[in-house]
Amino acid sequence: MEISNILINWYQEHKRDLPWRHTNDPYIIWVSEIILQQTRVAQGMDYFLRFTGRFPDLHSLACAAEDEVLKYWQGLGYYSRARNLHAAARSIVERFGGCFPAAYSDILSLQGIGEYTAAAIVSFVWNQPYPVVDGNVFRLLSRLFAVDTPIDTGKGKKEFTALAASLLPPAKAGLHNQAMMEFGALHCVPQQPDCLRCPLQSKCLGYAAGTPQAYPVRQHKTQTRTRYFHYLHIVHRGTTWLHRRSGKDIWEGLYEFPLIETDTPVGFAGLQATGDFRRLFAGAGDLQVSPVLSGLKHVLSHQILYAAFYYVETEKLPEALLPLSCIRVPCEALGDYAVPRLIQIYMEKQALFYTSRDLK
Ligand code: ADE
Repeated sequence: MEISNILINWYQEHKRDLPWRHTNDPYIIWVSEIILQQTRVAQGMDYFLRFTGRFPDLHSLACAAEDEVLKYWQGLGYYSRARNLHAAARSIVERFGGCFPAAYSDILSLQGIGEYTAAAIVSFVWNQPYPVVDGNVFRLLSRLFAVDTPIDTGKGKKEFTALAASLLPPAKAGLHNQAMMEFGALHCVPQQPDCLRCPLQSKCLGYAAGTPQAYPVRQHKTQTRTRYFHYLHIVHRGTTWLHRRSGKDIWEGLYEFPLIETDTPVGFAGLQATGDFRRLFAGAGDLQVSPVLSGLKHVLSHQILYAAFYYVETEKLPEALLPLSCIRVPCEALGDYAVPRLIQIYMEKQALFYTSRDLK
């Protein structure tokens, strides 16, 4: 039997019953694919349901404020996904009159949509014959054909896309693509795949060579950067201050407490001696400082953060915060802002849950 038929048969028997598999709405499928790009199904499901509950169609998303969109994304990470989703919804309204485009090239031109997502949308919704090549498909194909071209190179991407296209039956493009992805996610898994009960075993060159787990091959080891964050939860007469992150760094558009970053680990004495600390509290009078958390390790995809949190009550208004583009917020409104998971961990520890807007 052909590879595609084997995969489709397997898929029909083993596929998970997932909400985005019951719709042909390109908007819903788009949202699901963006959420699932860097997130497992089990973790993404609640977010998908809440997000599509609040933004059930393109117009509701396009009309929303970015802060609210980020709030619904809070905790999922990779926040540029949410900002791009929002910006692309607005582009579809402007450029296509609010009607989701069906042409692959139009979809590819939208913010945050690459070849993988465009192929997933057009094949799942309209059965257009574009191959999807996600991490699961790279793994499956590299094992099946014992391909040792590194997947994180231009050459590898081209080669695997061509291979995926050669297996694609045009009349069943959507089904085949879903089957490949699901098989990679559930059966041809990264660690200890169950090769003995694999329906593709007799065709698998990686298995025949005895080294299926040597695939896929990667060229680059990603470099990890270590950073030291010192957050200052500053309170004066029932108000506190938040800073909205901007620029090309992590967490763009999310809120956090005023932050001092150092190149090396420092305790409170070292922090107090920094110019940043002195400038931050110039004119704020006496400070009552309580260290709440320190050395909290927070791992992101390419960075390791070590974070400390200090609760600081000031005698006078800390006026230096305004030029640092901090906003003044009533303490009880903290829960209204989209914050990174790291800040949420601190807020949970401090039981700072005065959330006035319930997302559910
Ligand atoms: N991962 C990425 N896209 C997916 C989908 N449509 N279903 C399940 N897992 C996925």
